[in-house]
Amino acid sequence: MKILVTGGAGFIGSCFVRLALQNASTEIVNIDKLTYAGNLENLASLADNPRYRFQKADLCDLDGLRQIFEETKPDAVVHFAAESHVDRSILSPQPVFETNLRGTFNLLESMRAKAVGRFIHVSTDEVYGSLDAPLEADENFPLQPSSPYSASKAGSDLLALGYFKTYKMPVMVTRASNNYGPYQFPEKLIPLMISNALEDKPLPVYGDGMQVRDWLYVEDHCRALLAILEKGRDGEIYNIGGNRSVANRWVIEQILAITGKPASLMTTVTDRPGHDRRYALSSAKLSKETGWSPQMDFERGLKMTVDWYRTHDQWVRDVKSGEYQSYYARNYDHRASELNQVRT
Ligand code: NAD
Ligand code: TYD
Repeated sequence: MKILVTGGAGFIGSCFVRLALQNASTEIVNIDKLTYAGNLENLASLADNPRYRFQKADLCDLDGLRQIFEETKPDAVVHFAAESHVDRSILSPQPVFETNLRGTFNLLESMRAKAVGRFIHVSTDEVYGSLDAPLEADENFPLQPSSPYSASKAGSDLLALGYFKTYKMPVMVTRASNNYGPYQFPEKLIPLMISNALEDKPLPVYGDGMQVRDWLYVEDHCRALLAILEKGRDGEIYNIGGNRSVANRWVIEQILAITGKPASLMTTVTDRPGHDRRYALSSAKLSKETGWSPQMDFERGLKMTVDWYRTHDQWVRDVKSGEYQSYYARNYDHRASELNQVRT
């Protein structure tokens, strides 16, 4: 099977590419714009793999995409490419609109009238918005996104499902909870806290730090996507949760304990506007239809992730060069003056 992956140079996409290629009958074409979040180093282990090909492409270029489909003729498409970070979407919503909405539209348009066997639109539990305990969202839960990021994902989910209903395209939508693991860009909670702790820099906690997220190991997410590619039903939505809901403050304390750093590194900073208090979802439908369940225990996964960042300090240094410093300053300077020392 030939799979066209979008955004395969990012965190989750690169994990999916590495995992999918373990099947000797799978071929992958990875198209990616290589934004600040796209990094070909994430796929360095595949340099000599004859079943893998990379092509630089921007989803906002409809003619370019049409040409890629003409040349590639994939059996399936797995769509990861996105502007994926809530804080960046608050600072600069335009690229989020362009890639997540227009880019998804362009992808769907380039596939219309092409015989693509399956299309997975990779989305997020954030589309359900903040849920009071003990509520859990199933796939029919109302969409109540809070940020430009989650609103753009909710919109692109509906667009993709509309192409299923109208054009009978083989669309499936997946909604995963917060991912963590190796190769995650150090702007999201876990890799940021790990890399700051390892560098003895302050760990910026938004507000009271009691917001709850459900943590999913990235390989568990990618295994779920492979199961859905094989056994999922067209037109359906599948939630993918890690079954491990915890408060941010607890996660940060674990990271401090694993890295052996003092609690004094935790620094309370001004909260994120529109900050969702709690995400929670049920993956019962996915488990029932495919037999999937998350395998990684959170404590073990977090230790492995800390070890990965510890042993990949050059990777961290490389991704933190370039525009990272100016993003960091924009996001954190207004939050707390203590964090000024973070800038290098
Ligand atoms: P990421 O930011 O690490 O990677 C995104 C990739 O998309 C990068 O390689 C980037 O270069 C590429 N890209 C961005 N704009 C593009 C464009 N216009 N054209 C082509 N390529 C472009 O993201 P991630 O964390 O790997 O997330 C992947 C997908 O999973 C996203 O759709 C995201 O919404 C979804 N998701 C993420 C999480 C999470 O916790 N990270 C959870 C649930 C769902
Ligand atoms: P994040 O990793 O950005 O994912 P999302 O907002 O998509 O859930 O953030 C996870 C949680 O951690 C969220 O409640 C915001 C919080 N957070 C901090 O407290 N400090 C930080 O520096 C970051 C990046 C996030």
